[in-house]
Amino acid sequence: MVAFFLPLAGLGALVYLVTPISAQVPTVSLLIDSSTRLSAAEALNLNLRSVLSQVSSRKGATFHFGSTYSTPSSAEAAWTSNIFSTFFSAVVAENDCKWYATEPTRGTFTLSACEAVSSLAGAHGATFRGHNTFWHQQLPSWLPGTVTATDLVQNVIPTHVAGVIKGLGTNVSSWDVMNELITDSATTAMNSYQCVQNADRWPTVTADGGSTALETNLQFVYAAFKTALTNAPTTATLVYNDYSTGGSDAKDNCVFKLLADINANASIPYNRLGVGYQSHVGAQAGYFVPKAQLEATFAQLNSLGAKALITEMDMWIQANDTVDQRYQAAIWGDYLDACLYASNCFEFTNWDNRDDTSWITPGNGHGVAMATLFDSNGNPKTVTYELIARLQRYASGVSEMCATALGSSSCTVPST
Ligand code: G3I
Repeated sequence: MVAFFLPLAGLGALVYLVTPISAQVPTVSLLIDSSTRLSAAEALNLNLRSVLSQVSSRKGATFHFGSTYSTPSSAEAAWTSNIFSTFFSAVVAENDCKWYATEPTRGTFTLSACEAVSSLAGAHGATFRGHNTFWHQQLPSWLPGTVTATDLVQNVIPTHVAGVIKGLGTNVSSWDVMNELITDSATTAMNSYQCVQNADRWPTVTADGGSTALETNLQFVYAAFKTALTNAPTTATLVYNDYSTGGSDAKDNCVFKLLADINANASIPYNRLGVGYQSHVGAQAGYFVPKAQLEATFAQLNSLGAKALITEMDMWIQANDTVDQRYQAAIWGDYLDACLYASNCFEFTNWDNRDDTSWITPGNGHGVAMATLFDSNGNPKTVTYELIARLQRYASGVSEMCATALGSSSCTVPST
């Protein structure tokens, strides 16, 4: 299993499994090595939108290259507005569409903060994706409460999912209908209910860490997806979103089993379904999914007719030096290429757009963090330039290149 992170039940926080000690990173070959590097000002004012529209033309449908929006400090407001006008073409609310924000009192919806993010997307000519209608974290204070298993399936979940999805309307590329249901201790022998139940999270337990199962089957999952299908625009992908996924281990097996059950038991056609690969990863071997594995996983989804999405990409580095920054660029570039060259991947969402506002902070197993595309002054980094080059390269129509994270002995990128 790839060691990303493990949310400790009951703590309401994500705590990393292992504190990595600085491990060797390979020397990598990057696309930007053979081009003239843009200045920070040029990169910030680069009209990436025109490159993205060429990318979309080649893909045959809109390619959404986005990031999170969370109300910025006044010092960062102008920077944030600019970045969503020129650089990113898609926006997701970091927190404002979650259950605690949208239905703080049972049956009373407060969608204004979530709608503001959707409106911001519209005002900046960007698209909007919805995150999320169900998660065991950031719940309103009335949940888990004393809601019964039947009430949850028949009333609470349908009311919430319908209220939020209908309320946000048609300007949405996809909705994370359900988030992080599956255990980190999956085995291939588990059926999909066991994959969920063993996560020890509400509502298969009364509360996080509780021991008495509230829901003893997956009807609550089917209720959410059925409601989403009824209320979402037909163009919106209905997504199951999770972390530590994208490879081929037992947790990934669980994802495919769950998807098959959602397709069969909630009658959701595969062509409406997607899997969101959060991709909170680290620039260290074992802390990210190699490109070949990502591609195999995306192809497996494609054979079903379902979409693959990168939904929350960030990547800590072990040390603030050139070799680590280049390794970050190589791995992130591979993730982007895996999505670009897959025929069923149209959304690539980065999580938090600056190092100073990232939820990934130094220590606690995150090395020196520096996990986003822009530094604490809002300037682009090596990874940012490399992603621009990857998008430009794809837009130019050339064929896929090798996996740069393998190191320059296995992959020397073609000079442009
Ligand atoms: O709203 C309160 C505010 O009233 C209070 O003053 C402040 C003091 O710390 O806290 C505010 O709440 C914070 C909340 O974000 C809204 O800003 C919480 O402390 C903080 O823990 C919470 O963190 C969010 C986290 O989800 C919650 O687990 C992060 O911003 C957000 O990036 C993160 O996003 C999740 C995805 O939704 C799902 N996948 C994992 C990803 C990373 O954890």
